[in-house]
Amino acid sequence: MSSLQLNTEPINPTIPRHVAIIMDGNGRWANRRGHARFFGHVRGTERVREIVEEAIQLGVDALTLYAFSTENWKRPEDELSILWKLLLKHLKREREHMQKNNVRLRVMGEVDRLPAEVQRQVAVTMDMLSANTGLVVTFAVSYGSRREITASAKKIAQAVASGGLRVDEIDENAVAKYLWTADMQDLADVDLLIRTSGEMRISNFLLWQSAYAELEFVDECWPDFTRERFRDVIVKYGKRERRYGGIQK
Ligand code: FPP
Repeated sequence: MSSLQLNTEPINPTIPRHVAIIMDGNGRWANRRGHARFFGHVRGTERVREIVEEAIQLGVDALTLYAFSTENWKRPEDELSILWKLLLKHLKREREHMQKNNVRLRVMGEVDRLPAEVQRQVAVTMDMLSANTGLVVTFAVSYGSRREITASAKKIAQAVASGGLRVDEIDENAVAKYLWTADMQDLADVDLLIRTSGEMRISNFLLWQSAYAELEFVDECWPDFTRERFRDVIVKYGKRERRYGGIQK
């Protein structure tokens, strides 16, 4: 047995350090109101600023938002094009606000598959915010956890083949260093994973990093997920007892 020491205790245990959100239900939200799906994405995008602001207020250190999965490429071309337009608009409109709020932005996923202008604006925005030291906001875009883990397995195999890594050095900490969250260091593990819209699935999101996450499934669709509702979920999290497989203290 390894004597791995898990250092997972947050500084303020009632506030999760890393919150990850599956922003689900934009399409249903719009359809239920007689609108086209794209209107749900418009409203969903507008929600992002409010949740970022509330995360800062609450003292969360990292907020990861699932904006587009590897599986979402199956959607019709017109929906994809709207999603890229909204992401572009959001980056351009929000970067000053993120700068003022000391937010650092990460975009995680197969960024090279995104339209060239989106890639460019992602790079510009991340660069502009790179020295900030406050909330770390990550947009997971063209992201899939299985793809991430597979890519890390390949890199580990290459490191072993080239003599840079010994097989007996491959432990959980070593694997974590090859994942797309490696740069987040001790913030990579998710404390609280929220999914909106009442669906109870993880959908290929941060599978490794959420190993000990508390899960919260809320009925509201993402466009209805207000800062007050977010706060309720955080308060509920603060009352949970996290044992990491141990026993009650
Ligand atoms: C899920 O709703 C939502 C998405 C696939 C897109 C999420 C994107 C945004 C909120 C906008 C851009 C994001 C950022 C970070 C600025 P759905 O379409 O799957 O809804 P449904 O399940 O009701 O069909």
